Amino acid sequence: MIPFNNFKLHYQDLKPNIDEAITRVMDSGWYVLGKEVVAFEKEFAQYLNAKHCVGVASGTEAITLALMANNIGIGDEIITTNITAFPTITGIVQAGAKPIVVDVFKENGLIDYTKIASKINEKTKGIVPVHLYGQSCDMDYIMKIAKQYNLCVIEDCAQATGATYKNKKCGTIGNCGAFSFYPTKNLGAHGDAGAITTNNEETYNKLLSLRNYGQTKRYYHDFNGINSRLDELQAAILRVKLPFLKHWNKKRAQIASYYKEHLKGVTFLKENEYGESANHLFVIKVANRDHFLKYLNNNGVAALIHYPIPIHKQKAFLYQKDEVLEVSENFSSDILSLPIYPELSEKNLQEIVTIINKYEL
Ligand SMILES: Cc1ncc(COP(=O)(O)O)c(C=O)c1O
Repeated sequence: MIPFNNFKLHYQDLKPNIDEAITRVMDSGWYVLGKEVVAFEKEFAQYLNAKHCVGVASGTEAITLALMANNIGIGDEIITTNITAFPTITGIVQAGAKPIVVDVFKENGLIDYTKIASKINEKTKGIVPVHLYGQSCDMDYIMKIAKQYNLCVIEDCAQATGATYKNKKCGTIGNCGAFSFYPTKNLGAHGDAGAITTNNEETYNKLLSLRNYGQTKRYYHDFNGINSRLDELQAAILRVKLPFLKHWNKKRAQIASYYKEHLKGVTFLKENEYGESANHLFVIKVANRDHFLKYLNNNGVAALIHYPIPIHKQKAFLYQKDEVLEVSENFSSDILSLPIYPELSEKNLQEIVTIINKYEL
């Protein structure tokens, strides 16, 4: 079976450096919020060209904390997309706010920003655009709407570490960027981890406190925060891996180009020219998707669906039950994700293409 990801290989490539970093932390005797976290925050902010970065426990909590730092909570509404990983919604709900979803563009599944304005009312306080599959949303449009209605913008960058929009890195355009370092991500930790970026000093200081029970100095609590700290081990591992991110993203781009050049009989998602995708997932549209998926699995290719159910159809999503969001409903039934990761060998890539090109309806 050609796997969808290969974390063992990924680790093997950097094993000596990662093991050295782990030993360094273990020997230091300091495991939470220490030198490694501070250094990683600085290095990641530098990589993105953001003023500040705050390491947190996951991408989900990065969304929650970014909203909290922008004074969003109970009674507020946040607009986001109907095609995303459910944790985007979890992050909003955890902050106490009500998520409202809008439909997507059929060409690539990104939030259809022309649908945002009709959902804005006096309770609306923010937008969470998701840079889906690694591709940036059209941030000029989103920032324009946000400015017009005085909304905050939290970019969900979980799938877009290293992606750009008009030469700016995703996560540096809105009020905050929320990143995930879950192992499958372009920059993956060896456990759960996340980060928030911001160019605003006040937001930064509030985030430092909010991730640490709202503590401003030891045993003094100015806010009701949560416990969402990035630990030293994950930070030290992320520091080893960050310098390789550019190279890994380039490899992903090469795999995507290979698929586009060689695959027949499938539809590719539209890539917008305003930025560079991080190619987190390689998603295609195919007729008779479920049959095609079975064929791939039976022929040794692990493929997945991101995501089979649009948000408004999820049981846990309590709103907009009767709304028809036709584009995302159709999108979900046609899409399929093929393996894309830096360690995917040329041989495996060719095999995947051969198997797909042999497929007959
Ligand atoms: C779009 C999106 N948002 C948020 C998250 C949440 O990240 P984490 O798993 O680190 O909490 C993910 C990860 O699956 C994601 O893909």
